[in-house]
Amino acid sequence: MPEYTFRVNGAQVTVDVAGDVRLLWVLRDLLGITGPKYGCGINVCKACTSHLNGKAVNPCAIPVSALRPTDEVTTIEGLAATSGQDLHPMQRAWLEHDVAQCGYCQPGQIMAAVALVRRVAAEGREITDADLDGLRNICRCGTYFRIREAIRAGAENM
Ligand code: FES
Ligand code: FES
Repeated sequence: MPEYTFRVNGAQVTVDVAGDVRLLWVLRDLLGITGPKYGCGINVCKACTSHLNGKAVNPCAIPVSALRPTDEVTTIEGLAATSGQDLHPMQRAWLEHDVAQCGYCQPGQIMAAVALVRRVAAEGREITDADLDGLRNICRCGTYFRIREAIRAGAENM
C-alpha cells in the first residue's frame, strides 16, 4: 500500500494505507488519536471537526491521499499546544461555562469555535450572532446556549 506523510499535532507521521481511506479513520484507528469523534461519517454532524493548516475541516470527508507532507492537522489533543498553555483559552471557557453534557460532540464544538474566532479576528471584526448561527456542529444533548456563551468568553482571551 502507498505511504502518506503529513503532520499531526506538531509531529510528522507516515501511514501505510489505501489512499481513499478518510483521515478520520487514519487518526482514530491507525494513530490512536480519538479526540475527533465519529458521528455520521458523511460530513454532516461535525463531531470530527479538527483543523487542517488552522482551518476547520471534517476529517471524515478527507481522503488521506489529499494530504501533503507540509500539511498540519491539529486535533483537540494538540489544541492547547497551539496556545502555549496547558489549556487553550477556549477550553478554559468551556470549563468555566460547564458546557459539556455527555461530551461526545464537544471536541468538535471547541475546534469549530477556535477556527471561527480565528477567522473573524483575521477579518478584523467582532464575532456576531450570525457567525454563531453559522456553526453546524450537532449536539444531541442541546448544549447550544452554553456553547455560544463559552465561545464569546473564550474569544476574549484568544
Ligand atoms: S463524523 Fe465527520 S461530520 Fe460527522
Ligand atoms: S454534549 Fe452530548 S452530544 Fe453534545
